[in-house]
Formats: sequence, C-alpha cells, structure tokens
Amino acid sequence: MNTMTTPVIDVEYEQPQLNAAAETDGVCPTRHVWARVPVEPSLPERAALKDRIRRLLKEKNAVMVSHYYVHPDLQDLAEETGGLVSDSLEMARFGHEHPATTLLVSGVRFMGETSKILSPEKRVLMPDLDATCSLDLGCPIDDFSQFCDAHPDRTVVVYANTSAAVKARSDWLVTSSCALDIVRALKEKGQKILWAPDKHLGGYIQRETGADMLMWNGSCIVHDEFKSFELAELKKEHPKARVLVHPESPEAVIALADAVGSTSGILRAAKEMDAPEFIVATDKGMMHKLRTLNPGKTFIEAPTAGSSATCKSCAHCPWMAMNSLAGLAQVLETGSNEIHVDPALIPRARVPIDRMLAFTSALKTGRSTAGLVPHIGAA
Ligand code: 13P
Ligand code: SF4
Repeated sequence: MNTMTTPVIDVEYEQPQLNAAAETDGVCPTRHVWARVPVEPSLPERAALKDRIRRLLKEKNAVMVSHYYVHPDLQDLAEETGGLVSDSLEMARFGHEHPATTLLVSGVRFMGETSKILSPEKRVLMPDLDATCSLDLGCPIDDFSQFCDAHPDRTVVVYANTSAAVKARSDWLVTSSCALDIVRALKEKGQKILWAPDKHLGGYIQRETGADMLMWNGSCIVHDEFKSFELAELKKEHPKARVLVHPESPEAVIALADAVGSTSGILRAAKEMDAPEFIVATDKGMMHKLRTLNPGKTFIEAPTAGSSATCKSCAHCPWMAMNSLAGLAQVLETGSNEIHVDPALIPRARVPIDRMLAFTSALKTGRSTAGLVPHIGAA
C-alpha cells in the first residue's frame, strides 16, 4: 500500500526509559509514529469487496480471524464465512486449531505474529503490516532484555501485545483474559514477577492478587485516555448504568468499574448484568458487538479528553483502524503482506504461548493447573 496516496495521521505514544522502567512515575518521553487512514468505501464498493473476499477465502483455503476493535464489516464477514471475531487469546487459539492453510488476521501486528509462531507452516496475511501497538513499540527487545538480566530471580510475564523477540525472552505470555489466573498461580508457587509492558494492566493484576511485581512502564494510547473525573460525572447522569472497563485503563478509571475484563470479559458482563445501560471504557470498535448482541440495552462510550486531530483521544486504536475490506481483498488476491517471524525465534517464543494455552484450556475444562506452573528457570 502506498503511503503517498493514503492519508496518514500522527500518533503520539510514551517511550519508557530503561532506568525508569521499574518505577511507575519514571520518565517516558513522547515519541511519534504514524497510522494510515483507510478511505471508507461506498455502499456498492463495500458489497463488491465482500463478494470478492468471500470468493477468495474459498479459493485460497483461508479463514478470517478478526479482533473486536476492527471495522464492523471485518467482524461480521469473519463470522459469516466461518471465521472468528474474538479477543486476542481466542484469536491465537482459533488460528492454530483451524484447518485452513491461510489465516487472514484483522487486528494488529502482534496478533499476526502470535498466529505465525503457533502455526509456522501456515501462511498468515494481514491487511496492513504497519498496524502496530503502543505497548509493543514501548518495549524494545534490547532494553527489555537488559531489564530481565538485571532481575534474574523473577519470573518474566509478558502481555501478548509484544514482539516475537520479547515473547522469546519471557517465561509466560498472558492476555487480559487470563493474566489474573496465571499471576495468581505463580504467586501461589512463591514466584516473584517481572511484568511487561502495560503498567495499568500490571497494576490492576498486582492490586487483585497481591503478587510481588516489578513493572515495565508502557501503556496503551487508547485506554490511557479514559478520564475518571468525567466518568464519575457521567455516572451521576446515568444512575442506572453499569460501568465496564478494560484493565489497560488507568487505576482511577478501573476504581469506578462494576466489571473489569478483557474484550470478551466485557461482552460477557454486558450480557449477564441486569442493567438497561452500560458505560464502556474500551476501544469503541467494541460497541458493534455489544449492541448487536444486546439489542435491548444501551451502550455509552466512557469519556476521554475528546477527539483531536491526532486521534489521541478518539477511543479508537489508529492501528486497528488500518484494517479495511480493500486491504483484505488485496492481500488475499496477491498473497502480499505475509507475516514472517525469524525462524530462530519461533521455538523459544512458543514456550510462553504454549504455557498460556495449556493453562487456559485446563481452566476452561475444569482440569487442575497445578502441574502447569514450572519453577522459574525451567524455560
Ligand atoms: P483483548 O485481549 O482484551 O482482546 O485486548 C487486546 C488489546 O489489544 C486491547 O487493547
Ligand atoms: Fe495496542 Fe491499545 Fe491498540 Fe490494543 S488498543 S492494539 S493495546 S494501542
């Protein structure tokens, strides 16, 4: 895709400094990165693109795997064609278990890389390979390795939103839907944790479990923008509303939540909670599924500082927004935008992912997880 013709926006993110990583009030200089803004197709163009994708999926033995934050069309088309729309944990599992030889991943780059690490024999395509994540950008492997080397007595637990190299340096991978359970199990085994990269998710897990956690200082540019004062005011205007919060949000926002969870946790809470209205602190891409699955309920976006020219506060991930129908059709047609992961990294990066998948599938099926938590250094 051509950056000369596609509109591009500037995105600011915080770059943690190594010697500040262990301190939550450490210095984080602002860096700049860009995101492409796909042009919204007209109605006839949309219909034609969807037809083309349906046909190509069959021809290429491909399946769509979409995240809840991408454009509604990419979520609906994934489901309609036998693929999946889900959180990052289930995206990884589904892509690995599905028999298709090509995985068409709509999300951000770490999601495609996790799929490739789990299924190196499959072709993994993404609509735009430049769709990144501020957590991944804010945790470069050299700095992170130094941080780990300085604390060899700690079990290294990293969030899925990281590069393959960072995963390969870790003992455990977690997503927001399983981080609490995994950290709790590590704490029960007496392990001290080195956590990266999201300080807000890490802080939440630490408060909930009481685990000894040394934190990297990264954050998500989208969730970092939710504001607690304005949220408290909005709650007063909607006294019957329940507040659903993704744990990448700041502590003061999480403190106002009636339920805290991953994207799938938020969906579950909205279905199960008996309330007419919900205020939702996560990427607004989530509203599509929340509204279609709960037609009788009202969903309100949690307040940020407001939209701006840089999209910093628009509650929509600029990199998730880079996924488009046109991009999907093009990569399926041409086989371009294939995800490659350094083959030398794959066996080691797979260790923490396999641990997470084994742990979560044991939890799902009610089996014991006790034997799935090895001593530190066993990786
Ligand atoms: P989930 O694992 O909850 O889907 O979150 C992924 C993500 O990137 C949220 O910003
Ligand atoms: Fe990363 Fe935040 Fe975008 Fe999720 S929403 S992909 S954490 S920048």
